[in-house]
Amino acid sequence: MSNEGIDPARIPRHVACVMDGNGRWAQRRGLRRTDGHSAGEEALLDAVEGALELGIEWLTVYAFSTENWRRPADEVRFLMRFNENLLVRRRDELNEKGVRIRFIGRRDWKVPKRLIRRMDESVALTAENRRLTLTIAFNYGGRAEIIDGIKAMITSGVTADSIDESTLDKHLYDPEMPDVDLWIRTSGEFRTSNFLVWQSVYAELVFTETLWPDFRRRHLADAVAEYQRRDRRFGGLGTG
Ligand code: IPE
Ligand code: IPE
Ligand code: MG
Repeated sequence: MSNEGIDPARIPRHVACVMDGNGRWAQRRGLRRTDGHSAGEEALLDAVEGALELGIEWLTVYAFSTENWRRPADEVRFLMRFNENLLVRRRDELNEKGVRIRFIGRRDWKVPKRLIRRMDESVALTAENRRLTLTIAFNYGGRAEIIDGIKAMITSGVTADSIDESTLDKHLYDPEMPDVDLWIRTSGEFRTSNFLVWQSVYAELVFTETLWPDFRRRHLADAVAEYQRRDRRFGGLGTG
C-alpha cells in the first residue's frame, strides 16, 4: 500500500501506537529480548517519517508502561538506558524534521534522573516545532493518568459541581493532546494494556500481526487506509 490510495483530506489527526512484539521478534531469531528493543528504534524512526509524509499531526507511542516494571530487573535497566541513548542519538535529527517531542507518564516515580534530564532537554530543544508532535508514553498508564488528573483537579481547587469531561481533559498529562483517531497495536495482541484509556474511547482500533521491529511507514499507511474505510459514527448514524 502506498500513500496513493489515501485521501489526504481524511488523515487521522492523532495516531496512537502500542509498539509491541520486540521480545518475540528477537526470540524468533535466537537473539536476546533486548536486541528486539534495539531493533525497534529503526521502526520508530520510519513510522515518524511516514507520519510526516502523511501529514499526521500527533503521533503517540507506548514505550514503557506502568506495568512494565514487572519485567526482570536487567530488562528494565536496559530499557531505561536504551531510551536515554535513543533520545541523545535521535533528537537532533527529529528536531531538523520539525518534530516536537513530548512525554506523558509518571515522571517522579522510579524513572532514573538521567533519563528525565534527557527527556526535558529533548522537549526544550524541539518545543517550537509544529509539523508533528511525537509523544512518547513512558512510565505511562491510562488509569494512572486519570488518577493523577483527578488529584490535579483537587489540588487546584476545582469544585465537584464544575467538573465535566473538559475539566479532566485539562488536567491530564498533556492538556493539548487531542482525542485519538486511529489506535494501532502490533504483534497480534488484542488488548489495550492501559494505553490512552481516556483519549481513545472513540478511536478506530487497528491490530496488525507485524512485530514492532518489522513495522515500517507502509504499515502505518495500511492502517490509515483501513481507518479511512471505517464509518465513524460517535453514537450517531454516521455517513452510512
Ligand atoms: C514491546 O515489546 C516493548 C515494551 C513493552 C517495552 P515486548 O517487549 O512487549 O515484546 P513481546 O510482547 O514480549 O514480544
Ligand atoms: C504494552 O505492551 C506496553 C508497551 C508496548 C510499552 P506489553 O507487552 O507490556 O503488554 P502486555 O503485557 O502484553 O499486555
Ligand atoms: Mg509485549
